[in-house]
Amino acid sequence: MVIEKSFVSEEILTLTSEHLDACANLLVQVFNKEPWNESWSFDSARTLLWEIFHTPGFVGFVFCDRKKLLQVDSKMLQAGQELLGFIAGYSEQSCNYRRFFLREICVRSDRQRQGIGKKLLRHLVETLSTMDINLIYLLTMKDGELKKFYTKNGFLDSPHMMLMLQQI
Ligand SMILES: CC(C)(COP(=O)(O)OP(=O)(O)OC[C@H]1O[C@@H](n2cnc3c(N)ncnc32)[C@H](O)[C@@H]1OP(=O)(O)O)[C@@H](O)C(=O)NCCC(=O)NCCS
Repeated sequence: MVIEKSFVSEEILTLTSEHLDACANLLVQVFNKEPWNESWSFDSARTLLWEIFHTPGFVGFVFCDRKKLLQVDSKMLQAGQELLGFIAGYSEQSCNYRRFFLREICVRSDRQRQGIGKKLLRHLVETLSTMDINLIYLLTMKDGELKKFYTKNGFLDSPHMMLMLQQI
């Protein structure tokens, strides 16, 4: 006899190579929309994430929703784990400390502004603080609302550094 039980059980797991495809799909879905309107393909997103994942000092987490359990003849089987978000980056050596470059954070569009990004960031910060890493930096959109998300979560404008570009 098969009985389907639905419930929501959120969990934050270490991002492994098995998550790369799902994270790439999520990245395409999120960053090809407002406010970024970028043009990611699955392949370019997968390559970006593969590169981040293979950088020394990589740390990443996924936020999953385990939605359904199937009960088959009194045995519980897990059915379907949905990826709702991820966070990824790597630590780098500085002169006398290690810092962390937060490369990507992304939450599925229909689940944004429900606290998932905050939970992912908090989990990352807690993990990094046990690794003796006490500075996180990131690049984000200059104007727009995203800054609010980061300042709400403890980030400040850098008093010393700016981003410079040269088109070649
Ligand atoms: C940015 C992002 C990771 C935040 O995660 P989230 O789960 O949506 O955020 P939380 O629910 O934890 O926090 C939301 C709070 O952040 C602030 N915020 C401001 N602008 C925001 C925005 N565009 N999106 C989400 N939060 C925003 C608000 O204060 C908001 O609280 P409110 O909904 O009560 O106003 C997620 O929205 C996302 O994936 N956005 C698209 C991809 C992206 O921009 N990634 C960052 C690249 S640098």
